[in-house]
Amino acid sequence: TPVLQTQAEAFAPSNIALCKYWGKRQAALNLPVNSSLSISLGELGTRTRLQVIDAPSDEVWLNGQQLDADSRFVRKVSQFIDLFRSLTPARFRVTTHNNIPTAAGLASSASGFAALTLALAGIYAIPRDGRSLSRIARMGSGSASRSLFCGFAQWHKGELDDGSDSFAEVLSEAWPDLRIGVVEITTAEKSVDSRAGMTRTTDSCLLYEKWPQQAARDLQTLRQAIAAQDFTLLGETAEHNALSMHATMIASWPPLLYWQPASIEAMQQVWQCRAQGIEVYFTMDAGPNIKLLFQQHSIEAVRACFPTMTVVDPWHGPDPLQG
Ligand code: PMV
Repeated sequence: TPVLQTQAEAFAPSNIALCKYWGKRQAALNLPVNSSLSISLGELGTRTRLQVIDAPSDEVWLNGQQLDADSRFVRKVSQFIDLFRSLTPARFRVTTHNNIPTAAGLASSASGFAALTLALAGIYAIPRDGRSLSRIARMGSGSASRSLFCGFAQWHKGELDDGSDSFAEVLSEAWPDLRIGVVEITTAEKSVDSRAGMTRTTDSCLLYEKWPQQAARDLQTLRQAIAAQDFTLLGETAEHNALSMHATMIASWPPLLYWQPASIEAMQQVWQCRAQGIEVYFTMDAGPNIKLLFQQHSIEAVRACFPTMTVVDPWHGPDPLQG
């Protein structure tokens, strides 16, 4: 039996998809219908520490508080660790901190499962290989497959039924000028999580039939925009992709509308900014908060419209695979 490290620690950044993952072709392994492309959130993410403990079950601490053993979160974490326990059984104290301002209401499942994957790789002495760790992180949360990298990452949907070709990879291009602005609309828990939302969409939305085609086209366009550092093309494509995903949600039954009145106000404000020559675009995930895309030189103009936004520099942060 291989010897376990008794403790390990890792950080992974959160990420925002510019071409969204929406829909599973196979639920158990989190195999997606479409490929997706994201940008990481630099220093904003999750730090997770694992310690082997002599106990009958795992202990999970989130932001300084121990969680109830039968909470959904603890069950998900323990189930994920089971993937590794088949190598060598062990129980863990999992101490996890999100430095994503909770006020920003950003999803932390991507950075959470990526950090947990990296920490488990430390415990089980698994090499920090992007592809294979991405495949594992994917099983915790689809978007976690993209959270092991700094900068742009593309998650290849893959074709195989065993998921071996469904992993994310970092893109070689950097875009140092690119910034993300997180605009908080509400910190309230979302009513329908992404897993349930995807099922509802794929089960009931006829418009969804066109989504794979749109996602494939948008991903191609985003790759061109990144290669050419064409910000207008990047922003327009990301905003259109997000709205198309939300269109399939709204056209599901029962309807899935993640927007709040304040989300719509913020979208309209973005459009007003553009009409005034300020180049800013938005994207949104399965929740009411808005993420802005702009370039460093527009930061003051954008801040004047969105004084409360949190600005993120995607290239300012540790490389999760090195750390
Ligand atoms: O990783 P999940 O299962 O939480 O799904 C993420 C879904 C979106 O955030 C809406 C899109 C994406 O690609 O991140």
